Amino acid sequence: MSDVIDTNCMNLTRYVLAEQRKHPEATGDLTQLLVAIQTAVKAISSAVRKAGIAKLYGMAGDVNVQGEEVKKLDVLANDLFINMIKSSFASCLMVSEENETVIEVDVEKQGKYVVCFDPLDGSSNIDCLVSIGSIFAIYRRLDESSGAPSSVKDALQPGRKLIAAGYALYGSATMMVISIGNGVNGFMLDPSIGEFVLTDPNLRIKEKGKIYSLNEGYANMWDPAVAEYVQGKKNQKAGSRYIGSMVADVHRTIKYGGIFMYPATSDNPNGKLRLLYECNPMAYLVEQAGGMASTGKIPVLDVVPTGIHQRIPIFLGSSGDVQEVIDLYKKHNL
Ligand code: AHM
Ligand code: MG
Repeated sequence: MSDVIDTNCMNLTRYVLAEQRKHPEATGDLTQLLVAIQTAVKAISSAVRKAGIAKLYGMAGDVNVQGEEVKKLDVLANDLFINMIKSSFASCLMVSEENETVIEVDVEKQGKYVVCFDPLDGSSNIDCLVSIGSIFAIYRRLDESSGAPSSVKDALQPGRKLIAAGYALYGSATMMVISIGNGVNGFMLDPSIGEFVLTDPNLRIKEKGKIYSLNEGYANMWDPAVAEYVQGKKNQKAGSRYIGSMVADVHRTIKYGGIFMYPATSDNPNGKLRLLYECNPMAYLVEQAGGMASTGKIPVLDVVPTGIHQRIPIFLGSSGDVQEVIDLYKKHNL
């Protein structure tokens, strides 16, 4: 049996505990927080895969076969993230794509971390069973010692200040990819033991890739830098891939190399993707894996947020590819 079950497997919690040990001053709060997020992800994964199908029947509607109200997947994912994080005692404030304002944790349950998340990204892909994901970013609150209540300011920190970030991809398997500032590691969910097991240690992005990824339907609304870049890719007969789920497109970019783009368009001068819980965590992971993430003008992680749902244009992936886009922005004086 020993070759079937790994009796000494490195799961995500064990990895985080080992990292925590390297910092004697650590309180264990980050570990608790990451365990809480893992629990949310496991439950979302189960729901995405329509496990317990009888209960979930009628998922897209309002009522299941027993006549009970069924939560839509994105609402369920949001409730899971909020409830699990609150009960970790490690967070004081949350920002969710699904909530207009910040979510404050009850004073008696507060901890020092601020968590920004998109509980279920890729909404247009939910009903047709294409890969979707969850994304999260973790900051330390600004002034822990002041005793003052946390506020929206704690969430408006540039990505450079991130302590950790990660995503969960509900693809052909469920995988969590995380960084706590020390490289990037991928953990596959082993459903037989219900644990995330380290399968992709120290993920690194190639310096140059062969794939470009963006929604080409908006080509008429691109700026000249993006237009020239994409034309160059076509001239090189580069491969084009676009799933329309950021987590899936970014995961492929990390694994295979290349570039993912959601640029500004004449309709949406800030693009579509949100800084706090889509662009920053992905930029942090990509930089930690040796790649680059830029708005075209400055590194994503240097953008100082002004609003919790702010959008920015983004180019991320292999450093050689992203640098070409930056050079074109300079050339066109944009
Ligand atoms: P969502 O938060 O409503 O799901 O939108 C975000 C998603 C990303 O996952 C993806 O990169 C992008 O929207 C795709 O947008 P488009 O359909 O404009 O190409
Ligand atoms: Mg989203």
